[in-house]
Amino acid sequence: MQIIGLSQQDFRLFQSFINRKTGIFFDERKKYFLESRISARMEEYNLQSPREYWQMINQDSEELSVFIETITIPETYFFRDYPQLKMFAEDILPLVCEAKRKVHRKSLRIWSAGCSTGEEPYTLAIILLEMIEDFHTWMIDIIGTDINTRSLKRCREAVYGPRSLKDVPVEYRKKYFISFDTHYAIKPEVKKIVRFDYLNLTDRRKMQLMRGFDFIFCRNVLIYFDFENSKRVISYFYDALNKGGYIFLGSSESISRLSAAFKLVRFKNGLAYMKE
Ligand SMILES: C[S@@+](CC[C@H](N)C(=O)[O-])C[C@H]1O[C@@H](n2cnc3c(N)ncnc32)[C@H](O)[C@@H]1O
Repeated sequence: MQIIGLSQQDFRLFQSFINRKTGIFFDERKKYFLESRISARMEEYNLQSPREYWQMINQDSEELSVFIETITIPETYFFRDYPQLKMFAEDILPLVCEAKRKVHRKSLRIWSAGCSTGEEPYTLAIILLEMIEDFHTWMIDIIGTDINTRSLKRCREAVYGPRSLKDVPVEYRKKYFISFDTHYAIKPEVKKIVRFDYLNLTDRRKMQLMRGFDFIFCRNVLIYFDFENSKRVISYFYDALNKGGYIFLGSSESISRLSAAFKLVRFKNGLAYMKE
């Protein structure tokens, strides 16, 4: 495939279009990445100039969806950022469950926002199954959402290669996966706990419908966004959380830079942000 270079003007055109549609910001260092993705799509349609493709994604929502699939980074794996999950499992989850037991409200709602191919929400389901003794007496709702429709399809298939399982403890691998050939399928008892939906985090109207969550995980998503969109999405998350609920970002992302609304709480295994 021939990589078509973008003029500075065309680069800006794509940059602001993508930013407006998704919140993702491509700076100059990502220009080549963008050029390679646009060139591949242009080749598919035999287009001569990037402008023609730009017009196409402006008019054709299906092609826009395909384009978004090619520019989002789906990197993920089970039990990613183990120390943070340990804090969630051992320090925070028991605390929240205890508080709920006291008021006889045994329900938990968890949102994995930007869940990619599903490893994160399935990891959370496994943690809940492991940590909550009377799991089957609770109402559990785990939802994974993403903007990438191809990834969402993979979430629903729930079949993974060995790379995705590299950090899964051996006992969990045996307990929660069925291995066949070189792949692993999530067992039905885990699969049935998690549901998936398409959701663009910058879609204000849809984000306002997301309410009543005890935990939101949005890890390694906002690193690709510009500051303003990140701030906006964090404020949507604030509204979506219950009082006493927690938000988790990726290890290289900082909530304090984006919002002063959350309370920093210190636990044995680390720091977390809570809605007071
Ligand atoms: C690097 S993955 C992170 C997956 C997982 N949270 C983890 O930490 O392993 C980033 C995900 O964010 C999704 N994403 C990017 N922009 C988005 C948006 N505007 N709305 C929803 N999801 C988005 C991408 O499609 C991708 O699946």
